[in-house]
Amino acid sequence: VDVSADMVAAAAAALGGSGRVFAQHLHELHLERLYRTAYMCGVFGLGGRRDHDLEALRRIHRQLAPGGALLITHWLPYGEADETGWLDWLPGRHSSYPPEWPVEGNRKRAADGDEIELLTRTEAFDPLAQQVVLGMRARLWHEGAIVKEELYTLRSCLYFAQEIAQMLGVAGFRDVTIEAGFRSTAATADDPIVTFVARR
Ligand SMILES: C[S@@+](CC[C@H](N)C(=O)[O-])C[C@H]1O[C@@H](n2cnc3c(N)ncnc32)[C@H](O)[C@@H]1O
Repeated sequence: VDVSADMVAAAAAALGGSGRVFAQHLHELHLERLYRTAYMCGVFGLGGRRDHDLEALRRIHRQLAPGGALLITHWLPYGEADETGWLDWLPGRHSSYPPEWPVEGNRKRAADGDEIELLTRTEAFDPLAQQVVLGMRARLWHEGAIVKEELYTLRSCLYFAQEIAQMLGVAGFRDVTIEAGFRSTAATADDPIVTFVARR
């Protein structure tokens, strides 16, 4: 399930017809059957609204068979270990946004030889609302020249681990544990990425 039709089409191609895919907003999730497992990876908070994020958890709970599990792999707000970024959380120390775009972004070469470059910048940040708005600029390079450019903004909610654990309880989940990133060991304060495991 993904809100992006492009992502869903890519997943369908990768699955080669062996699975079903759906283009849906998670806060509007509605599937025909129940599942044993639901897995969210790098998605929680991207809805940009806390009420939508909680509703997403409620809907996922409804789609699980009794005893089924939801796993959420989540990048913590302090996971990037960017010390200067933390200054923005301090009263009276907020940066003025947006900064200039970086001169260069991440470039990846596609199978046809073209390159896709992604530049990002923070356009707004509110520590009280725990929200960040990123500007995303995607460029298509063909034979050394930019032939297409698309600009988007992405609003995300920032969540610390204990908030998510509590939201899972509010959404009806039980036996919530927090594991380290992609390992099945208990999370510690040194883990930048954690995985919540919660049961219906
Ligand atoms: C960082 S990507 C992770 C994609 C995939 N889970 C993975 O691990 O490769 C985040 C994905 O969340 C999707 N997304 C963002 N907001 C969403 C929402 N409200 N409902 C469903 N999908 C959403 C985006 O379209 C994007 O594909």
